[in-house]
Amino acid sequence: MKTIDELLAEGVTGKRVFVRADLNVPLSGTTITDDGRIRAVQPTVEKLAATGARVIVASHLGRPKGAPDPAFSLAPAAARLGELIGADVAFATDTVGESARATVAALADGRVAVIENLRFNPGETSKDDAERGAFADQLAELADVYVGDGFGAVHRKHASVFDLPARLPHAAGDLIATEVGVLKKLTENVERPYAVVLGGSKVSDKLGVIDHLLERADRILIGGGMAYTFLKAQGHEVGSSLLQEDQIPAVLEYLKRAEDKGVEFVLPVDVVVSEQFPDLKAKAPTEHRTVPADAIPAGFMGLDNGPETNKLYASKLADAVTVFWNGPMGVFEHPDYAEGTRAVAQALVDSEGFSVVGGGDSAAAVRILGFDENAFGHISTGGGASLEYLEGKTLPGLAALED
Ligand code: 3PG
Repeated sequence: MKTIDELLAEGVTGKRVFVRADLNVPLSGTTITDDGRIRAVQPTVEKLAATGARVIVASHLGRPKGAPDPAFSLAPAAARLGELIGADVAFATDTVGESARATVAALADGRVAVIENLRFNPGETSKDDAERGAFADQLAELADVYVGDGFGAVHRKHASVFDLPARLPHAAGDLIATEVGVLKKLTENVERPYAVVLGGSKVSDKLGVIDHLLERADRILIGGGMAYTFLKAQGHEVGSSLLQEDQIPAVLEYLKRAEDKGVEFVLPVDVVVSEQFPDLKAKAPTEHRTVPADAIPAGFMGLDNGPETNKLYASKLADAVTVFWNGPMGVFEHPDYAEGTRAVAQALVDSEGFSVVGGGDSAAAVRILGFDENAFGHISTGGGASLEYLEGKTLPGLAALED
């Protein structure tokens, strides 16, 4: 994989450099609630601009249906990038149309533009190679060089991630280089004890990673909505908690394999329950109580880990030398159900081991809960991407940068 510094050494002054970033940030209306992904690509953009490249930043945002949709515009992200780099950032209101062509043509050396959400074009995510390729051809006309730095999207076989680098000289940006370096530490010669904390709503999203990590981790701690499928598999009633009945056989197999291999599987011992899912906008106080994890009353749903679980999980993380965490422990967006997620984040901050927070919701959670990002070993920008890397899969966006 060519690095950006090798690319710069070849000279990029005056060249149009297409930077595939992941600016898929959470928005409330047009307000960005966590700009971590924009800040993560900032060094690459600044490095290129400083050497006189004409920088075209492109990304997806959300999952629009292959057509323009103002709710998914990248305009707020472009404005934030401009604030961060302290320079005007031009914005093209389409991807490969008149606005994009004119915006790129008007770019002076060392200046930056953002083009509109790539997923406004159906070719970006198409399963049809020819349709994706046709869109990649159009994107290629905008640029001379490609820099892949959208780590959060490298697991997607999309036109701008997979097909475009095959059409242009390419290199990996600093963010991708850092992310891959960190993930290697979690897969090759891992320092032990190695603890993994998995949360989030669905077990089905985590099957691959559990399967892979059962061969590698010493402890796996489970929380969030997915914990209830594990508790049910152990024969406990879970009330109206989130449940994936169809995953129970897989979960039972994992519990058995963990036992055979001596991998410690840790489940909540108490949980915070309520009769209703909280209103995440109003954040008004809710009726809730803590119950043992094996005694969730009918009609109540588990929404967070309880205090005994928080202590237990902190003790399981205290002596870990390597920790990977993906997925919140509860509905952290509401203050009544944020303690489980806060407790895991605090345990990672307190630990002297190397801790990696794997993207998406858990990365947003640590920032929203007010933790200092520098207190963690690494906060990944990739949720699905880091999980798929840990599953041992070949990621299309990394493979495309290899040759
Ligand atoms: C993410 O948020 O994990 C990345 O931006 C990828 O988004 P996607 O899951 O919509 O492809």
